[in-house]
Amino acid sequence: MNLIPAPYEFKQGVGYYKLSDNPKIKSEFDLLLVKLTKSDKADILIKKADLPDEAYTLDVSKGGIEITAGSEIGAYYALQSLRQLSGAELGESSVPICSIYDKPRFSWRGLQLDESRHFFGKDVVKKLLDMMFMMKLNVFHWHLSDDQGWRIQIDKYPKLTEIGSKRKYTQIGGWQSKEILFEKHEGFYTKAEIAEIVSYAKERGIMVVPEIDFPAHSASAIAAYPWLACREIETEVPGYFGSIIPERVEHNRKWNRTICLGKEKVLQFVFDVIDEVCELFPAPYFHIGGDEAPTNEWKKCPCCQKTIKDNVLKNEKELQGWFNNLVLEHLRGKGKRLIGWNEILEAGNLDKSVIAQYWTPQRDRNAERHVNSGGNIIMSKHQSFYFDMPYAQYPLKNTYCHSLQSYGVMPENIKNVLGVEGENWTEWTADSEKLELNLYPRVQALSEVAWSRPESINWQDFLSRLDKFTPYFELFNTNYASLDVAMQKSKIKRAKIQKLFYKGDPNYEVKLNNMLKQKGEK
Ligand code: ACM
Ligand code: ZN
Repeated sequence: MNLIPAPYEFKQGVGYYKLSDNPKIKSEFDLLLVKLTKSDKADILIKKADLPDEAYTLDVSKGGIEITAGSEIGAYYALQSLRQLSGAELGESSVPICSIYDKPRFSWRGLQLDESRHFFGKDVVKKLLDMMFMMKLNVFHWHLSDDQGWRIQIDKYPKLTEIGSKRKYTQIGGWQSKEILFEKHEGFYTKAEIAEIVSYAKERGIMVVPEIDFPAHSASAIAAYPWLACREIETEVPGYFGSIIPERVEHNRKWNRTICLGKEKVLQFVFDVIDEVCELFPAPYFHIGGDEAPTNEWKKCPCCQKTIKDNVLKNEKELQGWFNNLVLEHLRGKGKRLIGWNEILEAGNLDKSVIAQYWTPQRDRNAERHVNSGGNIIMSKHQSFYFDMPYAQYPLKNTYCHSLQSYGVMPENIKNVLGVEGENWTEWTADSEKLELNLYPRVQALSEVAWSRPESINWQDFLSRLDKFTPYFELFNTNYASLDVAMQKSKIKRAKIQKLFYKGDPNYEVKLNNMLKQKGEK
């Protein structure tokens, strides 16, 4: 069976059905993305049935192909499966006689892209959405603001993009490097462009969830509006990444990452921004970030301290919890739920209805307690789902062979896990070549662990299907990591690549991969 993700049920018959070059499709659904025929002599017949939203059946017999689905997206997923089974785009034409019943394991099958650290633009996003569609992934988590760039038009606060979307320089060479590229980096999405992407995604069954980071990772917004911070000082959009700032570098002395939680005007700003963002994204979720929030500014700020006192809060963590609860209530009024990275659970006063996205590499008892006591989480543990990390550190198998139990979810509480999501942070990813290397084939592994039931997870079987899938990367002109890179065998090489990632050359695997591919072609 040439199919990723593995279907729920697959019964193979004897023989093959020969698909014509231009198969006629007749459908009871109005499928905008495929050409349909009205003729009764269709090769593929799609019927409506009483099935869950994304489920479908696919029956391939000698006489033709019949699909049933409960919704348009179910019908599209059936066609996506048929696409891989037939290999039509790869010059094949035989579909095995088979009968499939398919449905997803998780409702949240996500992929994130950080466009703050590097801005890619809508063509890259659409190409990503196309691959997500093929792999039956259904949530695009769009990281649109961070310290190093604000990437979404907000009418009420135009400086967010006028100032906040531009930076003068960028740190290169890895987390521990002090190398700087003195080149302007800028870009943002207008509201019309956002609407275009949201609509493109929706047609493909993909919900777009925006992430706008407050109260931390807000340096670009603070550069635009200095009054957002506790101390009102002029700052610029930083080109450094991470929280350890190299000393003695002129640019970064006034680094300031958190907004003030004690000023009425700042809270109004947050709600105004959220209101405008929510207008653009119909998804019933909003991601506030909330990770890595330093408390030092709040500790020294009279306004923040007054808020703590007035609201009888224990400390600065509870100040963030109080803020998150305000946002959560505001979103509730719009029928939306709040998502934040798992650190937000450090606030003891946080509302239980929050969704925690569990990312930290180290074990987090708060996240475990949350999911094991009925709270919802999205699983994005660093070791398995941080696609920005080198394969030398987190090989492909980490994504495919993770276990929710080993990440602290009790078997009876797996129902509280909305799903899994791969993260593409882009501090060290400045172009599509690197982005795609990191993504593929991790996305194929992600797709299977998100969609297929645990009984179908089989590493060797996956590898053999991945081998059959690889020609699609070539066909789509998409970069991908060869297994020599994605599953680097040499411990010495892995150690070397990891070292280079932190200091020296974070793009080493791109070069190695290209070199190995060229060798293979010779
Ligand atoms: C994160 O990677 N700080 C969510
Ligand atoms: Zn303050």
